[in-house]
Amino acid sequence: MFAEEPMGRRVGLAYNAKSEYVFQPGDPQDANAEFDHDDTIGVIEDAITAGGHTVVRIGNATALLEKLDRLDVDIVFNIAEGYTGRNRESQVPIILEMMGIPYVGSDGLTQGLTLDKVMTKKILIAEGIPTPRFVEVSDVSALPAPWLLGFPVIVKPRHEGSSKGLTEESVARDEAHLRRQTDWVIRTYHQPALIEEFIPGQEFTVAIIGNNPPQALPVVQIEIEGRLDLGDRFYTNARIRSGLEYRCPARIPESLARRITELALRTYRAVECRDFGRVDLRVNPAGEPFVLELNPLPSLSTEDVFMVVAKELGITYEAMIHRVLDAACARYPRLNQEVAVRPTPPASLSFAKRS
Ligand SMILES: Nc1ncnc2c1ncn2[C@@H]1O[C@H](COP(=O)(O)OP(=O)(O)OP(=O)(O)O)[C@@H](O)[C@H]1O
Ligand SMILES: [Mg+2]
Repeated sequence: MFAEEPMGRRVGLAYNAKSEYVFQPGDPQDANAEFDHDDTIGVIEDAITAGGHTVVRIGNATALLEKLDRLDVDIVFNIAEGYTGRNRESQVPIILEMMGIPYVGSDGLTQGLTLDKVMTKKILIAEGIPTPRFVEVSDVSALPAPWLLGFPVIVKPRHEGSSKGLTEESVARDEAHLRRQTDWVIRTYHQPALIEEFIPGQEFTVAIIGNNPPQALPVVQIEIEGRLDLGDRFYTNARIRSGLEYRCPARIPESLARRITELALRTYRAVECRDFGRVDLRVNPAGEPFVLELNPLPSLSTEDVFMVVAKELGITYEAMIHRVLDAACARYPRLNQEVAVRPTPPASLSFAKRS
């Protein structure tokens, strides 16, 4: 017996809600910074539903494992950031891949690679994509002396996002400060510190959607304290929490916008990002761009870059989410052979038994 369901797909939603995070003793105050607000999860769900699909809320990787044998979805929209370690963003994609369940976004390799900024930079260097010079330090006593990169430098945790570990103290202008900050990052985030040449000037971010070919959306410029020429200003985690300021389109010459877009697309391809992503760059006062990193799970909050770009393009938030979902669906031939009325599998057919 087959029951009739509304036209559309069953779309699982995998996520980590900020509200689920239980702070442990010793956690930094920004420990749950990457997780999504309930509002964001809700608007993504509403956007998918508005397209005629049915959303099945899954939750985090543990919930996914618990639900695996009765999960009846055509595809999973994955924004789960995961818990602990540099492979945390890979957890949901790898489980889904293992089970043969289609999903939106980059695979486990790209998620792990790009969360680790040092690994990403090695790929960028191999591809000839400019990125700030850097040193990785796991033990502050091994800090090279005399200091190699000169000053100022910025000290970041090696594999964090959402500007975790970035405070007003992150830029060092002398060796004593560098040692102190490096030691703090290593001890607080239990991982090596990435020390980078600090790039003053302007900052940009480029949202990208799709595959074969991916499409770069209009360049977004970062504004801090009302300034586009940021000088020494940069995004700390506190600034992110107090609200971001973006300008779109960026107030820059067409030639610079083209160069930034080209680098963003090269970066997306170099790390084999899929469906959607966001590339962050800084441009120094000489007009030279540097790629800082790529986010394969960029925020889809209505306060963030994708919404800013949607406004510039004159499309709705829902339309933006559907572009991402459609890009993923296009990668799976069997999803495109869907019929208007979808058969519901018998209750006894567990997902794990599907071939
Ligand atoms: N080398 C650098 N020179 C100047 N500013 C930098 C540099 N590296 C990082 N920053 C500043 O710190 C911010 C966060 O750094 P980065 O993008 O590398 O980390 P993240 O935590 O992964 O970012 P996101 O908040 O986008 O997830 C940047 O947006 C920028 O403002
Ligand atoms: Mg960034």
